[in-house]
This record gives sequence, structure tokens and C-alpha cells, in this order.
Amino acid sequence: MTEYVLPTHANALGNVFGGQILAWMDLCAAICAQRFAGCICVTAGIDELSFEQPVRVGQVVRLEARVTAAFRTSCEIFVDVRGEDPSTGVTWPCVSGFVTFVAFREGKPAKLPELLITDPGERALHEAANARRTERLSRRKQ
Ligand SMILES: CC(C)(COP(=O)(O)OP(=O)(O)OC[C@H]1O[C@@H](n2cnc3c(N)ncnc32)[C@H](O)[C@@H]1OP(=O)(O)O)[C@@H](O)C(=O)NCCC(=O)NCCS
Repeated sequence: MTEYVLPTHANALGNVFGGQILAWMDLCAAICAQRFAGCICVTAGIDELSFEQPVRVGQVVRLEARVTAAFRTSCEIFVDVRGEDPSTGVTWPCVSGFVTFVAFREGKPAKLPELLITDPGERALHEAANARRTERLSRRKQ
């Protein structure tokens, strides 16, 4: 997903407001989750995020989402956000993180299809997914 940064997206320093980036991350991840699930998905949670470098008005925000794990009714989506100078094509890291979605059918959490992992880069992210899920669910209990 690609977004052009307008003054309406900016904070007082002329950088994109963090909440705006969060909204774009949530949307990008939702599209990814729904393509995978084949039904409506709702956001259950977003893991901790740290913003690395800003993106300014007149620059571009590039978001890329992928499914990294599918559990029973929930799936984990990794979203990577980069800034881009559209005049030069140079990009830099802005923020990345995991968003969990729950698939819904007929108003109830619905079973997801199996996730097929083919790429070695994806395998590394997938292997650590159970540990991240345990951590999230234990925080939820607390
Ligand atoms: C997320 C939600 C569906 C969970 O409902 P619930 O009654 O607790 O349902 P369950 O306990 O059956 O959980 C469903 C799945 O969500 C997962 N889940 C629930 N809360 C979670 C959280 N905070 N983080 C990660 N996963 C979570 C559960 O582990 C379970 O996954 P699994 O089936 O793969 O094991 C419910 O809390 C909800 O509707 N929240 C509001 C969602 C919303 O409005 N989002 C913003 C707008 S899109």
C-alpha cells in the first residue's frame, strides 16, 4: 500500500503523525488478513511499536503486509513501513510490527485455512510466531 504524505497527515514538525501511520498499518494488515481468510477480519491487537525514522510531508509511506502465522481463528500479520523520497526512490525504515486479526463468519470467530510457508525468510518469522502468541495471550490474561 502506498500513501502520499499531505499536510493533513502531519504533526507540528511536518512529519506524519504516529496515529496516522498506525491507521494505515491496521488497514494494510486488514486487507492482507481478509485476502487470506476469505471473510471479514477484526483487529484483536497490535504488538508494541517503535518509530525509527520520520516521514515528512511530500514524501511517501510504503506499507507491506504478509501473513506470518495462522492459528485457529486468529492470524498474525507482519507489517513493514518504509519512508520513500519519490524524487530519488531512496527508502528508509520507519516502523514495523505484528497485528493480530480474528476471522469472522456469521458473527462468530471462524476457522482459518492452513498457511503454506514457501520462502525461507517467511519461515524464520513463522517459527517464532508461537512464542509471540504465548506472550500476547499471557499479557491479555493479566
Ligand atoms: C478479538 C475478539 C474477537 C476476541 O473475542 P473472544 O470472545 O475473546 O474470542 P476467543 O477467545 O474465541 O478468541 C478468538 C481468537 O482471538 C485470539 N485473541 C483474542 N484476543 C487477542 C489478543 N488481544 N491478541 C491476540 N489474539 C487474541 C484468541 O487467541 C483466539 O485465537 P485462536 O482461535 O486462533 O486460538 C473480541 O475481543 C473482539 O471482538 N474485540 C473487538 C475487535 C474490534 O473491534 N477491533 C477493532 C475494530 S476492527
